[in-house]
Amino acid sequence: MSKFLSTLAVAGLLASTTAVFADTATEGTTADAAATETMAIVVDADLAKKGKKVFKKCKACHKVGDKAKNAVGPVLNGVYGRTPGTFEGFKYSKNMKALGETLAAWDEEHLNTFLTKPKNMVKKTKMSFAGLKKEKDRKAVIEYLKSLSVSK
Ligand code: HEC
Repeated sequence: MSKFLSTLAVAGLLASTTAVFADTATEGTTADAAATETMAIVVDADLAKKGKKVFKKCKACHKVGDKAKNAVGPVLNGVYGRTPGTFEGFKYSKNMKALGETLAAWDEEHLNTFLTKPKNMVKKTKMSFAGLKKEKDRKAVIEYLKSLSVSK
């Protein structure tokens, strides 16, 4: 990093105006911040709060929180970013386990597809749930799931 900055400093001197140097330095900082953002899980707290309400529909089968245990469905703590079909001690359907061989981690896109109509994405899934018809409900509940993947 210091090497990078000194290169910039030299470039700035060569350009012989401090304004050019300042612009270049700012650009460098922005790119760094963006790179960090794509790796971290960024949660919209308001949306997650709405999602917690939508999650009432899931609670009959899924437990979350510190003392959560597998129930009809697997524990969903940390499901965002987890490989499908891999929560310890849960007996998944064959096809959910197979999904985990091709999909490294549940992300927004795949959760959205799954939650629209589970049986369409994972044939014969054990999750007997019709799906969330409204996109805004899916978005909110996914945001809530993301909040469960952020270490406290
Ligand atoms: C009737 C019970 C039931 C309901 C309601 C239900 N699920 Fe599930 N869910 C399951 C079962 C069972 C599985 C395991 C599926 C399999 O093995 O095919 C599962 C799997 C999942 C998975 C994949 C987990 C993993 O470890 O890969 C996600 C994500 C998920 N459910 C989210 C939800 C959300 C969000 C809701 C509410 C909108 C919901 N489920 C409602 C029973 C349910």
